[in-house]
Amino acid sequence: METMKSAVDLLAAEIKDLYSAEKQLTKAIPKMIAGAKDPHLKAGLSAHLDETKQQIVRLETIAGLLEIEASGKVCKGMEGIILEGAEALSTDAPPLVHDLGIIAAARRVEHYEMAGYMTAIAISDELELSEVTALLQATLFEEKGAEESLRTHFDGLLVKCTAVAADSGKPPAKHTPNVMAKTA
Ligand SMILES: [Fe+2]
Ligand SMILES: [Fe+2]
Repeated sequence: METMKSAVDLLAAEIKDLYSAEKQLTKAIPKMIAGAKDPHLKAGLSAHLDETKQQIVRLETIAGLLEIEASGKVCKGMEGIILEGAEALSTDAPPLVHDLGIIAAARRVEHYEMAGYMTAIAISDELELSEVTALLQATLFEEKGAEESLRTHFDGLLVKCTAVAADSGKPPAKHTPNVMAKTA
């Protein structure tokens, strides 16, 4: 069992967890890039892979400031989210639906990261570790940007996807009868 005596120990644990998460992502994002069909989505994911590598460097700097090892913990939450992402990649679906599934998985990654960084920032800020806080905020800014970019891609592809369905004679999802209303 992990021993935690103070908020500093909690911050150290959060940093190690984030470090593991980011390390896992440097292996998972290239698979998403390879699997994505849309060139803009590929480019967006590639840009965020570069940011992720920088985020790892920031966490190493933070670990140095806190005088801890960044490694030594496994982020099980990110392991699970990446496993779900792998399912999206191996799904047999038309290109637009396939990419929407990849983005859905990627958005879960960004939200999970944002929760972790926001928590770490709250602790660091309370402890008045201004240098650590600034580094964490720089990463949080990038995670929010990545999520926004993914959301924009998602919304654009979703419109195309429903338009394709309408062209093929199938009703778009928004015209599907409300099953809940029928059973109410
Ligand atoms: Fe990240
Ligand atoms: Fe991210």
